[in-house]
Amino acid sequence: MLREIRLRSLLDAPEAFGQRHDEAAATPDSEWDAIARASADGNRRVWFFARVDGNADPIGVVQARRRQPFDCLLFSMWVAPEARRLGVGSLLIDAVRDWGAAWGAKRVVLWVLAANEPAMRFYDRIGFTVLNDGPDAESGRAYGALAMERPTSASAG
Ligand SMILES: CC(C)(COP(=O)(O)OP(=O)(O)OC[C@H]1O[C@@H](n2cnc3c(N)ncnc32)[C@H](O)[C@@H]1OP(=O)(O)O)[C@@H](O)C(=O)NCCC(=O)NCCS
Repeated sequence: MLREIRLRSLLDAPEAFGQRHDEAAATPDSEWDAIARASADGNRRVWFFARVDGNADPIGVVQARRRQPFDCLLFSMWVAPEARRLGVGSLLIDAVRDWGAAWGAKRVVLWVLAANEPAMRFYDRIGFTVLNDGPDAESGRAYGALAMERPTSASAG
C-alpha cells in the first residue's frame, strides 16, 4: 500500500517532493518493507493513510517523524486529485497533530516549496505560518523551500 500510493504521488506531483519517481520505482520491495517496518510501532515515525469506507485503496497519505524534544516533522503529504478540496488533507494533518500531541510535541513542522502555491494556500488556510528562522539546514531554503509550523494545540478549523 505504501509503495503504490507513494509512487502515485510522485507521478502526480513530481515537483512537490524531494524524490524522483523513477528512483522510487526502482527501489526493491525489501527496502519498501523496511521503510514500512520502521514505522510499524508508531513510536519514532508513522505513515497515515486516508481511505473511503469499504475501499481498500488509499486516497491520501502523509508521513510524520518525531524529532526530540518537541517537534513533529511532516513529510510526503499528498491527496489524490479526485479527492481534493473535500477536507482529506486537513484530516491527515489533524492525525499527525494528534500523534505528535500524544508524545508531547509542541508543534508540527513541514517544508514546502514556495512555488507550490496550492500547497502554500492549503497550509496557510489551516493555520500554518512561515518560520522566518528555519529550524536548521533541513529547511532546504537553498532549494526554494520554506519551513512552516503550527502548534499542536491548533486544529484545521
Ligand atoms: C495540498 C493538498 C495536500 C491539499 O489537500 P486537500 O485534501 O485538497 O485539502 P483540504 O480539502 O483539506 O483543503 C482545506 C482548505 O485548504 C485550502 N486549499 C486546499 N487546496 C487548495 C488549492 N488548490 N487552492 C487554494 N486553496 C486550497 C482551501 O481553503 C481548503 O478549504 P475549502 O476547500 O473549504 O476552500 C493537495 O492539493 C495535494 O496533495 N497536492 C499535491 C501534493 C502536494 O503539493 N503536497 C504538499 C507537499 S509540501
